[in-house]
Amino acid sequence: MLILIKRVMLRAIKEELILGTNEIQLANCKDEISKALRSISYGLFIISSVKDGKINGQAANTVFQITSDPVTLAIGINKNNLTHEYINSSKVFSVGVLNTEGLFLVRNFGFRSGRDADKFDGIEYETAETGAPLLKDSLASFECKVVGSMDLGTHTLFIGEVICAQPRELESQ
Ligand SMILES: Cc1cc2nc3c(=O)[nH]c(=O)nc-3n(C[C@H](O)[C@H](O)[C@H](O)COP(=O)(O)O)c2cc1C
Repeated sequence: MLILIKRVMLRAIKEELILGTNEIQLANCKDEISKALRSISYGLFIISSVKDGKINGQAANTVFQITSDPVTLAIGINKNNLTHEYINSSKVFSVGVLNTEGLFLVRNFGFRSGRDADKFDGIEYETAETGAPLLKDSLASFECKVVGSMDLGTHTLFIGEVICAQPRELESQ
């Protein structure tokens, strides 16, 4: 009986929490959200992957470290992107961290799809053990294998465990 009462209480608390969340989502503050989003700081990255020996990459601003042991990184990738298809298939990706001189890479990788052009044509890179390309013109590269993902509608949040890294700029300091 006690267990039953506990279960009913827990369900009631859960429902109230969910209801509470829904009410917050329905609040009319779209403009405020758009404005506040502009205050979030981002970096600039190139996320690359491989599928059946073919490589591709795209610009990204959403890369962040989640855990330290093991080291994991999260990336948010639009499902329409060719890079998404490659990551989904091979379960590996690399992250190139750009410096201010890397803006040409954003132009190359961020405004057209690998479906229409070979974006690595004329770009210097090494090939990681995973098969994913590592951009030489970057502050550092990370090689990752996908250990988790979350479907977020238009995007997938991929969690990658870092299996190796190349801290290029730091090496020369
Ligand atoms: C500065 C910048 C940041 C971007 N950040 C992301 C991102 O975090 N996630 C994403 O899915 N697309 C992002 N994009 C868009 C992709 O880079 C773009 O759609 C690309 O053409 C996809 O290429 P693909 O089809 O070859 O994978 C960004 C573009 C730019 C210019």
